[in-house]
Amino acid sequence: MNEPVPAPPQPFDLLFQPTNLGPMALQSRVMSPPHFSAIGNLWGSDKDAEKTLAYWDRRMDSALGLIVMTGRIAHQLIPGFEPTGMSADPIGFFRLPVWMERAKAFRATAHARGVKLACQMTMIGNHPFAASRRLSSPVFNNPPHVMTREDIARTVAEYRWSARQAREAGLDGIEVHANHDDILQYFLSPLTNARDDEYGGSLENRCRFLVEMVQAMRAETGPEMAIGVRLNMAEHVPEGYDLQGGVAIARHLQQTGLIDFIHAVVGTPWGNPSYVQPHFFAPGQWAQMAGVFRQALDLPVVHSGLIKDPAVAARILAEGQADVVGIARGFIADPDILAKARDGRVADIRPCIGCNECISRRYTENLPFGCPVNPHAAQEVDGPWPQAKARKALLVIGGGPAGMELAALARESGHEVALWEASDSLGGQLSIAARAPEHGRYEEYLAWQRARIARAGVDVRLNHRGTVENVLAASADVVAVATGAHGRRPDEIAGAQDPAVLEASDVLMERAIPGKRVLVVAMDDGMPPLALADFLGRRGHDVTLVYGTAGPAQNVGRYILGAPLGRLDALGVKFRYMEQVLRIEPDCVTVRHSYSLVERRITGLDSVVLSCGGVADSGLYDALSGKVDSLHLLGDAYAPRKLAFATRQAFALAKLLNS
Ligand SMILES: Cc1cc2nc3c(=O)[nH]c(=O)nc-3n(C[C@H](O)[C@H](O)[C@H](O)COP(=O)(O)OP(=O)(O)OC[C@H]3O[C@@H](n4cnc5c(N)ncnc54)[C@H](O)[C@@H]3O)c2cc1C
Ligand SMILES: Cc1cc2nc3c(=O)[nH]c(=O)nc-3n(C[C@H](O)[C@H](O)[C@H](O)COP(=O)(O)O)c2cc1C
Ligand code: SF4
Repeated sequence: MNEPVPAPPQPFDLLFQPTNLGPMALQSRVMSPPHFSAIGNLWGSDKDAEKTLAYWDRRMDSALGLIVMTGRIAHQLIPGFEPTGMSADPIGFFRLPVWMERAKAFRATAHARGVKLACQMTMIGNHPFAASRRLSSPVFNNPPHVMTREDIARTVAEYRWSARQAREAGLDGIEVHANHDDILQYFLSPLTNARDDEYGGSLENRCRFLVEMVQAMRAETGPEMAIGVRLNMAEHVPEGYDLQGGVAIARHLQQTGLIDFIHAVVGTPWGNPSYVQPHFFAPGQWAQMAGVFRQALDLPVVHSGLIKDPAVAARILAEGQADVVGIARGFIADPDILAKARDGRVADIRPCIGCNECISRRYTENLPFGCPVNPHAAQEVDGPWPQAKARKALLVIGGGPAGMELAALARESGHEVALWEASDSLGGQLSIAARAPEHGRYEEYLAWQRARIARAGVDVRLNHRGTVENVLAASADVVAVATGAHGRRPDEIAGAQDPAVLEASDVLMERAIPGKRVLVVAMDDGMPPLALADFLGRRGHDVTLVYGTAGPAQNVGRYILGAPLGRLDALGVKFRYMEQVLRIEPDCVTVRHSYSLVERRITGLDSVVLSCGGVADSGLYDALSGKVDSLHLLGDAYAPRKLAFATRQAFALAKLLNS
């Protein structure tokens, strides 16, 4: 009898191969790097912890190999010193009374699913510790406290104590955070380390603090726990270390024999790229650099950074660029990303669009966590999305992001749903945003939503404008108005109503073509003016943005901003700040300084384009008020904001309809 023919290898088999990171035996070659600080606080109230554990529990079904949890080390400060800025909290997680109990609970959940659990050890630099007086970037200017030998010794002891906690909690490993502006990066980097003692100067000296730390930790953990180092492969600033410098650091660490893996990444908290790389970069853009690390080392290399889907992950593994791949945001956007890869349902994966709301909402806008493409994220504690208690007929007017999400969720709960859209396609303003350079992932998301809506069985009618008459005639139980917004032509600017003054949406859709020299009136605290400037700059226009604020895009997090600003500078785009536009005339624009109130004239322009936010299209809702019992308004039609606001309102309303 012939031998059975082996099944052809599945494209994602590589992801599901077991592997080892030192003593840690992983069930797959996929890990999830730290990302839950913004999602929930495992070390906060019982409720917060329950929420965070539920988030992870939902993501462990799919042969995930390893989770690394966030871990801040206690700062050893003088009494009364108050660190300021993000990540400046001096309280170390490992010192919290709840740490042990919560870490054990997390470990038990993970181990029950075959997932290994490690903790990160992080101490962000300049809060206030630094290696020397040199600052790490031109955008943070807090003078540091230069660490003395005593500070170093106390910090090493704190890491050692924290490692003991990790061992007692039964964790499988520790990842030392020596990247992303950590105090350790301050020592490793020639940019920030100008010490003239045994902790500065040569490579060996710059690595000494980290090596002493790992020695101390290893003395606690013994060989049974894995210890890895998360390292920037290169610093991406001329005075910092380059790829060869990064490899040299990794080789030095390797030869100590103390560590089990290197987690090779890129990014700074402020920069270009940031450490949470937005959609302006190509998926897996830095994997080749990781490949250089892997070639140069005998240690296993973990790599993460914009590995947005299983195809990118499998490619990196197949090309030998990493032993293990890390996925953070891909798991936020779709908890089943791996399960779907394993089951051949890749097209079903809800795509992460790289917008970074997951980190910016909390740290820039002081809002609760939210992922615009997956409003279920961080709500897992409530269990699976429920079926409706009473089936209703829902009519949704407007097929932008808000209407699409509501229609899909309601249909998935078993309601009977019709979605009317006035134009010939679903997508709303997000289809316009998707036209800007490197915004193609917005369109990927819209395509996914369209497919989801079709699969769910929503009755979609395109080219069908809702009016008072046809809505009333439809006799739905519930009517939701998600008619969005249109571009704002500010009343307060004389001349802004002139049709010769263009609107951003028309320019992006190429319904209007501006002249060579363009002034963009940027009255929007988000991305649209920058996206528009990029669109125009790449088409050869001379672009100037004029802002009333002291800087650009004040609601856009620092995790995003560096990339577009770097690109715009390279394109020669010019910025004017603190100037309120008063008047637009054919040959001149008059601005007034926001604070001195001095007026100035800008001349030599061919076109003026408005990027001034939106005006809610709520007329239909107003006209239906009092005529429909269950009438709702959501998304930009309520108040123009962003995608995350639209889909989160849809989620909240869908929940209400189910109650
Ligand atoms: C240029 C630009 C760039 C942007 N960039 C970003 C970004 O980077 N990140 C981000 O988060 N957000 C961005 N936004 C904002 C984001 O697109 C909106 O917040 C979001 O689309 C709002 O969704 P919505 O469904 O409420 O409204 P809309 O997207 O406006 O959708 C409303 C829909 O209703 C339809 N409609 C209107 N009236 C009727 C009617 N009577 N009957 C039937 N259909 C009707 C419209 O045709 C439209 O399709 C951008 C917006 C623009 C214009
Ligand atoms: C909400 C959020 C919180 C994060 N927190 C940490 C952290 O505590 N430590 C760390 O090293 N990286 C942190 N990161 C970075 C991720 O670990 C990861 O390197 C980054 O998101 C790129 O991977 P991705 O493209 O798969 O998301 C965080 C990322 C996000 C989105
Ligand atoms: S879609 Fe945006 S918010 Fe959601 S995970 Fe991706 S980057 Fe974060």
